[in-house]
Amino acid sequence: MDKSWNLLFALAVFVLLYTSLATVPNISTDEAALLALKSHISSHPNNILASNWSSSSPICSWIGITCSSRHNRVTALDISSMQLHGTIPPHLGNLSFLVSLDISNNTFHGDLPKEMGHLQRLKLFDIRRNNFTGAIPSFLSLLPNLRYMYLTMNQFSGKIPPSLSNLTKLEVLSFQGNFLEGEIPRELGDLRYLTFLDLQLNKLTGSIPPSIFNITTMQNIAFTSNNLTGKLPITICDNLPNLEGLFLSENCGVIPPNLEKCKKLQVLSLTYNEFTGTVPRELANLTALTALHIAALHLEGSTIFP
Ligand SMILES: *[C@@H]1O[C@H](CO)[C@@H](O)[C@H](O)[C@H]1NC(C)=O
Ligand SMILES: *[C@@H]1O[C@H](CO)[C@@H](O)[C@H](O)[C@H]1NC(C)=O
Ligand SMILES: *[C@@H]1O[C@H](CO)[C@@H](O)[C@H](O)[C@H]1NC(C)=O
Ligand SMILES: *[C@@H]1O[C@H](CO)[C@@H](O)[C@H](O)[C@H]1NC(C)=O
Ligand SMILES: *[C@@H]1O[C@H](CO)[C@@H](O)[C@H](O)[C@H]1NC(C)=O
Ligand SMILES: *[C@@H]1O[C@H](CO)[C@@H](O)[C@H](O)[C@H]1NC(C)=O
Ligand SMILES: *[C@@H]1O[C@H](CO)[C@@H](O)[C@H](O)[C@H]1NC(C)=O
Ligand SMILES: *[C@@H]1O[C@H](CO)[C@@H](O)[C@H](O)[C@H]1NC(C)=O
Ligand SMILES: *[C@@H]1O[C@H](CO)[C@@H](O)[C@H](O)[C@H]1NC(C)=O
Repeated sequence: MDKSWNLLFALAVFVLLYTSLATVPNISTDEAALLALKSHISSHPNNILASNWSSSSPICSWIGITCSSRHNRVTALDISSMQLHGTIPPHLGNLSFLVSLDISNNTFHGDLPKEMGHLQRLKLFDIRRNNFTGAIPSFLSLLPNLRYMYLTMNQFSGKIPPSLSNLTKLEVLSFQGNFLEGEIPRELGDLRYLTFLDLQLNKLTGSIPPSIFNITTMQNIAFTSNNLTGKLPITICDNLPNLEGLFLSENCGVIPPNLEKCKKLQVLSLTYNEFTGTVPRELANLTALTALHIAALHLEGSTIFP
């Protein structure tokens, strides 16, 4: 009897100690994370954060910061186009209420910390126009609420991770202007709400997986300037009623067949494809088409429009 009371007492003390030591994140957590970020940005005459992000003023009044009044936590960080040079510290992963992250058009470099995988509420991830290197961060597939993902114009290399198919709410995926290689994973076809898939200006090879042409919400597919080969499926437009732009220039592909079913197609770009054949007559029936780029194709009988 005595023994079990002692055990219970010890357990109670442990629980009490544990809960008082465990810190519940609050706005001070966010402040610490942002000050850590500030300390990773090198001083620069135009660095407005140096003076503006000051502990003496409330962080919700700092430039680029939006807070939710309900939770009193940081929900948006927008420090785009501020000529900031630096790296991203792991502390950024502590901004647990962050919904929108925009650090685009600066010169941040290095790797992105894996702690960013804790940003479970994130919907916008925009790191366009920076100097990030390494593989596409694997933590991205851990962000279940992500809708817009822009890694455009950085120096990412390696393959596109198939695990991105985990991002079931993703609408926009742009990897344009990196050094990505290997094949486009067929798993991307599982992204059923995708409207915009931009993989232009990389070093991708192989054929385009047919699963991509199964995403009924798709509006723009841009694969210009890669090393893609092979035939496109004959059913390309069957499941793409909303397709507005198809950019396939500077690859080694072919003109996709059966385009007349893509009723909303406005821009079709096929320039410099190594291709021989005739321009399909049904292109003349694409009434929404406003721009057609087929200039340097090796074509026979190329005038289809009056
Ligand atoms: C945040 O929590 C810490 C302890 O976890 C506490 O010391 C601090 O006063 C809190 N800050 C605010 C602004 O509530
Ligand atoms: C920081 O910038 C914001 C937005 O421009 C401004 O409202 C605020 O007063 C500035 N705070 C400081 C301490 O300079
Ligand atoms: C990028 O930032 C620079 C400097 O702040 C600005 O002049 C330029 O317009 C920005 N470019 C884009 C595409 O936002
Ligand atoms: C925030 O993140 C850093 C690094 O990931 C960590 O050391 C720190 O303890 C975290 N928590 C708070 C409350 O700042
Ligand atoms: C970005 O990285 C490239 C190559 O590492 C380098 O040449 C360039 O100067 C960097 N840009 C800036 C603005 O730091
Ligand atoms: C996919 O998402 C689930 C839940 O969001 C997560 O548990 C799992 O680790 C993710 N898988 C990968 C490969 O990131
Ligand atoms: C495509 O492949 C050719 C030959 O293998 C190579 O010379 C060229 O640089 C590649 N282009 C790209 C964009 O990777
Ligand atoms: C396209 O979707 C249909 C219906 O969900 C499925 O049966 C088919 O296997 C998919 N095709 C590809 C190439 O993924
Ligand atoms: C274009 O549309 C008309 C009317 O729907 C149809 O009769 C004709 O066969 C179509 N032409 C081509 C080349 O698909």
